Amino acid sequence: MARTIKLALIPGDGIGPEVVTEAVKVLDAVTAGSDIEFAKTHFSLGATRYLETGDVLTDDDLAAISAHDVILLGAVGGVPGDPRLANANIERGLLLKLRFSLDHYVNLRPTTIYPGVPSPLASHGDVDFVVVREGTEGPYVGNGGAIRGGTPHEIANEVSVNTAFGVERVVRFAFAAASARRKKLTLVHKTNVLTFAGGLWKRLVDEVGATFPEVDVDYLHVDAATIFLVTDPARFDVIVTDNLFGDILTDLAGAISGGIGLAASGNINPDGTYPSMFEPVHGSAPDIAGQQKADPTAAILSVAMLLDHLQLTDAATRVRDAVVADIATRTDSSRTTSQIGDAIASALAAPA
Ligand code: NAI
Ligand code: MG
Repeated sequence: MARTIKLALIPGDGIGPEVVTEAVKVLDAVTAGSDIEFAKTHFSLGATRYLETGDVLTDDDLAAISAHDVILLGAVGGVPGDPRLANANIERGLLLKLRFSLDHYVNLRPTTIYPGVPSPLASHGDVDFVVVREGTEGPYVGNGGAIRGGTPHEIANEVSVNTAFGVERVVRFAFAAASARRKKLTLVHKTNVLTFAGGLWKRLVDEVGATFPEVDVDYLHVDAATIFLVTDPARFDVIVTDNLFGDILTDLAGAISGGIGLAASGNINPDGTYPSMFEPVHGSAPDIAGQQKADPTAAILSVAMLLDHLQLTDAATRVRDAVVADIATRTDSSRTTSQIGDAIASALAAPA
């Protein structure tokens, strides 16, 4: 049966539009001739839009985006330090606002060290894990404030919010993911010091874990987790953790896997109440923008995650296989952004 999927495209700033062009090229190639059609709407959001109109993300933007099935984002943000953007607050006003408003309670970041990709780790074994980072709570909710600002008596609070509801649902997602993978889940927290939040996370991992007896459960303090991510990353399958720890660990995970140009992510609302959003982990890279130097692979792998989310598993696998094959044979480092996209798209178009 023919299926039309409403796709919101937010190319954004800098290299965002360049990598999204290639991601869409690959999406079109993998669905060509099938009964699946992506109806695409472009949204102009980010630093460029802010400089033109003064808007970051209006209620109308949000309502229009919400009416889609799924979102693909490139990257947003201008040149760091640009004084015209001093008050724009793109991170909070756009990215975090989208994640909170669309209830993206799972931030999913897979890490694989692909054959042919040099990792900064001399020996690492078979690395293939996924971080399930809570996306709507923790210290990122803006629950705080400052008084006596700028004085020696300034008091600044930034309170971490952890609800049983919020923790349970992300832990459940992580167990289901582990059950479908290598059946190992590692909770990362700091339960010895953050005893209130840590106690809640630990209790819910134990409770939900009882309903997934096939999954082995492990626990690491976040500081120890940074050691093992460097010394023995192959030990991980699914890591579940809070918003702040997840933010930090996934940057480390991106670094060990050999490059910001390869790391993909999903901001997921597993309930389907709102559209989920897929994006490369990298930013808008103003230093190389407009030069066709950006690696579009992270954006293309984000498309694979998007297809997986839509349960178009076969298409997702084909995209991932085409990317892995391309990565394995990368010898020409002078390929442009669009040449890489073309190579992957034409591998998909070739008859199997
Ligand atoms: P960045 O990720 O944009 O760039 C860091 C370094 O990695 C740069 O040298 C860049 O050239 C390189 N790089 C990034 N993506 C690449 C790719 N696909 N291929 C090859 N090289 C790549 O981080 P930076 O410089 O801290 O931030 C630049 C802007 O992006 C800022 O405005 C920042 O706020 C924004 N940003 C946006 C994000 C998002 O939209 N999710 C995430 C991170 C940063
Ligand atoms: Mg980050």
